Amino acid sequence: MKSIAVRLKERSYHIRIDAGLLDESGPLARAALGERSRRAIIISNDTVSRLYGARVERSFHRAGFDVHRLTVGDGERHKTLRTAASAHTFLIERRVERSDVIVALGGGVIGDTAGFVAATYLRGIRFVQVPTTLLAQIDSSVGGKTGVNHPLGKNLIGAFHQPSLVVIDTETLGSLPPRELRAGLFEAIKYGVIRDRLLFDRIAREIERLKRGEPAEVAHLVARCCRIKADVVERDEREGDLRRILNFGHTVGHALEAATGYRRFLHGEAVGHGMRAASLIAERMGLLQTGDRMAIEEAIRRVGPL
Ligand SMILES: NC(=O)c1ccc[n+]([C@@H]2O[C@H](COP(=O)([O-])OP(=O)(O)OC[C@H]3O[C@@H](n4cnc5c(N)ncnc54)[C@H](O)[C@@H]3O)[C@@H](O)[C@H]2O)c1
Repeated sequence: MKSIAVRLKERSYHIRIDAGLLDESGPLARAALGERSRRAIIISNDTVSRLYGARVERSFHRAGFDVHRLTVGDGERHKTLRTAASAHTFLIERRVERSDVIVALGGGVIGDTAGFVAATYLRGIRFVQVPTTLLAQIDSSVGGKTGVNHPLGKNLIGAFHQPSLVVIDTETLGSLPPRELRAGLFEAIKYGVIRDRLLFDRIAREIERLKRGEPAEVAHLVARCCRIKADVVERDEREGDLRRILNFGHTVGHALEAATGYRRFLHGEAVGHGMRAASLIAERMGLLQTGDRMAIEEAIRRVGPL
């Protein structure tokens, strides 16, 4: 098992990465949360709950938690205050207490929504991220940005609330649709460009193995991306300055998503286009050499169609 520490004083936590780790999620949560935590509320969507809900539930049971499962709708259109409010009602009706824990099982939509529910219920209870998409494993589950969409814009309602633990089971990527996997790979290229030339070169070199989801290569990628994100967040938790580096490719990417009503592109695909645009602008401004711009283009092209 790979372990990555995110050092944020009293909000510090670990990211645990391994194949098959869903079955250990309960004991890992018990170790991170202590004995007082009695109940675990697993928040997931229909798709992921059907695939992995029972395994996570069993693991938390085994670790002595009283487990409840809340299943919400699948997709970005469910990342709303309405979904969050229905989750709040679920928690209130079951008298969930501050020492209890929310478990976010799913992609970034579930992680953001369940994290927001954890941030706001009883002025904040602890939560564990169990991300099941590549994008969520390398990006959204780490760093504490939680939130939901508003009819007037994406991610406008939210809170910074760090998880107590992130459990990444790389095997869950085996059931991910190939297009979702590729969307995550575009975000992985982002980390290479902003922070790590060696990672960038390795992604370019091993792209076919990554697209096949080869366990060892994917595990290396996930761990490296998490380390980079953790480093950035440790230095600038609330996006005062450095954390904006993570937005490389996102200015044009977000504009594309908005202009197409969030229907045409997956987030990672929009970021793929955004990185191409940002690289061109940087080249024209004399901030990026032509050879590097072409290497970025080529890596994006090899991930697949945008
Ligand atoms: N908080 C942050 O820092 C941060 C960073 C980046 C993105 N985000 C947010 O993340 C969201 C996008 O996340 P996403 O790309 O994970 O999308 P998603 O959560 O919608 O998941 C994509 C699809 O894959 C399905 N799925 C998930 N895991 C699966 C699995 N293992 N097998 C089969 N199907 C599976 C989901 O049900 C869904 O249909 C956006 O809302 C974005 O704003 C947040």
